[in-house]
Amino acid sequence: MNADDPTRPRYLRRHLLGIEGLSPQEITILLDRSETYVLQNRQANKKKSVLSGRTIINLFFEDSTRTRTSFELAGKRLGGDVINMSVATSSVKKGETLIDTAMTLNAMHPDVLVVRHPQSGAVSLLSDKVNCAVINGGDGSHEHPTQALLDALTIRRRLGHLDGLVIAICGDILHSRVARSNIHLLNTMGARVRLIAPNTLLPAQVERLGVEVFQNMSEGLKDVDIVMMLRLQRERMQGNFFPSIREYFNFFGLDEAKLSNAKENALIMHPGPMNRGVEIDSDLADDFGRSVISEQVEMGVAVRMACLEILTENLDSEEFRNL
Ligand code: NCD
Repeated sequence: MNADDPTRPRYLRRHLLGIEGLSPQEITILLDRSETYVLQNRQANKKKSVLSGRTIINLFFEDSTRTRTSFELAGKRLGGDVINMSVATSSVKKGETLIDTAMTLNAMHPDVLVVRHPQSGAVSLLSDKVNCAVINGGDGSHEHPTQALLDALTIRRRLGHLDGLVIAICGDILHSRVARSNIHLLNTMGARVRLIAPNTLLPAQVERLGVEVFQNMSEGLKDVDIVMMLRLQRERMQGNFFPSIREYFNFFGLDEAKLSNAKENALIMHPGPMNRGVEIDSDLADDFGRSVISEQVEMGVAVRMACLEILTENLDSEEFRNL
């Protein structure tokens, strides 16, 4: 389809704040554009100039290895100027509010702000106050849209499609923005989602999200195509959510015996950071026949390049001038 064709489907939004509410067409546009960057990222020369002259600020109020580095690489590979704001050395430590920090950065005319924040809803709040595009790099236990996109890209490249697949998301669903974004994306794209977790680590009324819920790994993993493991987010827990790590691993940790219930070629996924021996057996995490954990990280850069490119294209377009 011609890029100038006005009827071609487009991602007509200023921001990427979450997966909830995106149409299958919008998700497909983001995934298809990401696909174009996978090969480029495997070449010796990874550089393009589509973001030349653009400024991207990574504003991370929470720790991150993968997401922050991935956005930084994505912006640089597209020729943009990328600034990393470390909250530890910023005026946030002097008591500046989130909105004041955002307004200060906004006054320097960035094109894209990538924001991670410990509170659900904080990134959306901030996006109302700035003129640039905003990408949610993870807000509390709410959403982490680029993670769900990179997971979907990994699955689509391995299995060719998303519709009709059965995917089990296992572990600390309650605190996981990765789970929430994945549930929205996979449901929207016609996959079937199962959640497997102890009662204490499931959000209230979770069935309303259109998922099947299991509290037994062997039952929940029966014939699934994908097993997506989640980290126990102990930094978000106050109180006891499970008796002990050993007990948790016995019941909910992924090991050979539990995995044997899944389809023979089922893929193992994990968004990282991974706690070996807590939610996943170390050998399984490194089983390169089945584990696609490194591939997820690789796809993350391509997805973030696509998101940065599409959102900055939109900044130039007439439809967005008055938004
Ligand atoms: C996740 C996150 O921060 O939400 N990590 C990531 O971005 N890859 C999951 C986690 O912290 O467990």
